[in-house]
This record gives sequence, structure tokens and C-alpha cells, in this order.
Amino acid sequence: MKALIAAGGRGSRLRPLTHTAAKQLIPVANKPILYYGLEDIAKAGIKNVGMIVGKETIDDIKRSVGDGKKWGLNIKYIYQEEPLGLAHCIKIARNYLKDEPFIMYLGDNILTTDLSKFIGEFKRSDANALVLLAEVDNPEQFGVAQLDDNDNITRLVEKPKTPPTNFALVGVYLFDKNIFKAVNNIKPSFRNELEITDAIQWLIDNGYKILPHKVSGWWKDTGKVEDVLEANRFILSSLKASKGKGLMIDSYSKIKGKVILQRNVRIENSVIRGPAIIGEKTKITNSYIGPYTSIYFGCEILNSEIENSIIMENTKIIDLPSRLDNSIIGKEVEISKNIKKPNAINLILGDRSKIRMHKNPSKGRSI
Ligand code: G1P
Repeated sequence: MKALIAAGGRGSRLRPLTHTAAKQLIPVANKPILYYGLEDIAKAGIKNVGMIVGKETIDDIKRSVGDGKKWGLNIKYIYQEEPLGLAHCIKIARNYLKDEPFIMYLGDNILTTDLSKFIGEFKRSDANALVLLAEVDNPEQFGVAQLDDNDNITRLVEKPKTPPTNFALVGVYLFDKNIFKAVNNIKPSFRNELEITDAIQWLIDNGYKILPHKVSGWWKDTGKVEDVLEANRFILSSLKASKGKGLMIDSYSKIKGKVILQRNVRIENSVIRGPAIIGEKTKITNSYIGPYTSIYFGCEILNSEIENSIIMENTKIIDLPSRLDNSIIGKEVEISKNIKKPNAINLILGDRSKIRMHKNPSKGRSI
């Protein structure tokens, strides 16, 4: 069985981070989101992966993932000129996928369920597709399934204003070759995309069998900032404390709770309270790093407090006037105090950056 990973989308809800980087590569607990999916696929014994990339994601993903050998995978890149929808991804992967059943995995999804269980269930059944469903609080933001009393899917609707149930379609699907007929017979949706949800509805309307499977494990579509931070909290809670080689912690520092210190980390006169992860060659001095914080490699944190946040690689945070909370900071960012007069704030921000400053930073908790 082959896998098809969709990693071509623009990630518009994660701007400005996605102006310069693929959303699938945002690090969650110091690992790019896409790597979680690649690991799941490799663990399920799949070797051949078609990776859909678009103009916003192709360079980044190729550079980071390469040919997939790291995971024992053989990755073939398939270029999608415009993000025309998930069903469109299947259309352009037709020659690669051929007639065999395949698993489709959305590159911005993270789940904690063993895929081989679903693959086995699908292979043993006579179904034409298997979909995973998860109960969510905000079904209007997903594809939603309506079920009958026997839990058979009767209808699927993409981003419904009045959702028929709370069961969202998880971004992992199994299909046989009939999905190619479906994707060729549907029309673009309200967001001008060929929706995977509409393609599965076409299968239902034309008498094909869809097997629903409710997932009990944790699942997240990391489409928005709050989702990425939630995924970060969840993954950090599930990791074990560890200490990498070359670690330097001075006697004034305290490490409390589950903290993962990667290689060559230096901690001086600081408190790190887990769950947290500190990346390779990152230096933390006179600072407090609170729970649910991931700081990636090559960063420098000096005289600052950070919690519940993701800090990407090679970023410098120096002399923050109040605690940084609930934030995602991109790579190579520099935040520091202006020591020159006049007492003003100097900002060089990319398009669509978001800064929330407290009226009185010395009393507030967030900047
Ligand atoms: C896509 C699908 C949606 C599904 C979701 C899961 O949504 O269209 O049906 O529930 O992935 O992650 P999108 O991320 O394109 O808004």
C-alpha cells in the first residue's frame, strides 16, 4: 500500500509564520509537524509515499524531508500548481498511485493512533473507503459526518454552518481506486476547492461502501495558532524527561518536572519547569521557562520569562519586560530591550504579524 501526504496548502490561518515557511514544518515539541505523520506511516510498514507540495511548501519540505530515507521511506514529490483542494491532490496523484488501495494523510494532522489497525480493518473489509471520525467541540470548522442508528455514514458535509453531529472527519483516509471516479465527478466548493468530503459523499451517493471508524485517541488538525499550541502541550505531556550530551547546567539553576534537554544546552541561573523541551545549542541565562514551552535549537534566552509557547530556531529573546505566554515566535527573531532614548518601541515586523502589548508591561503577563 502507498501513502499520499497532502502538504501543499498555503496555511493562511497561520500567517505570518507561513509567509516564509511551510506550516507542516512548524515544530511541535521541537519536531516538525509533518515528521509525526511520516513516523506513523513508516511504523505502519508503508514504504512508498507520494508527497503533494505546492509553490509555498516545495522548497522547505524537500530540504527538510528529502528522499525520506531517514524514515526508511521512498518519497516521490508531486507538484500541485495551485491549492485546489484535497480531492484535486488525489487527481494529480493518479499516475503515482495506480489502482492499488492507498492511505491519504493530511500533512498538518497529528494523531496518536496506530495506523496499522485501520489499514488491517480496511483490507479485511469489502469497503471502498475508510474514514476516521473524532468528536470535536467546533465541528463547523471540519468535514462533518451524519450517522444513522447503526453508525453508518448517511451524509458528509464540509464546514457546515449547522453541523448535524460533532463527528469531524480526521485527516486520514483509506481509499480504493473508486475514489478516482469520485474526484472526477465533483465540482469545486464554496471555497473553490475540490473537497475530499464531497468526493466521499459522491461514493455514498453512488452506492459504494464507506467504513467509519471513531478514533478514541488524541487528534489535532494544526491549522490555527491555538491548535499548534494545544498540540505542543499534548505532545510535551507525553514525552519523558531526558538529558542530551554536552549539557551544562550551573549550580544556581533548577530543573523541575518533565524537561527534555537536547544536546549542548547551556543553562545558567535559570528555572525550567516542565513539561518543556530545550533544543540543541540553546542557551538560557537568568530566565524562567515555564510549562508547555518548546524552544528549538540555537536560541538564546536572557533575562526573560516564557511559558506555554513555541520558540523556533536561532531566535534571541533578551530582557523581556514581562512574561511571554501563549505565543509562537518564528525563526531568527530578535526581541530585546531598547536601551537608547527616547523610550520607544522599535519593531521590524513581517506582514500579518501579531503583537499584543500590555498597557503597563511591568504589571502585565503578556506582551
Ligand atoms: C480538511 C478537510 C476536512 C477535515 C480536515 C481534517 O480541512 O477538508 O474535511 O475535517 O481537513 O484536518 P481543511 O484543513 O482543508 O480546512
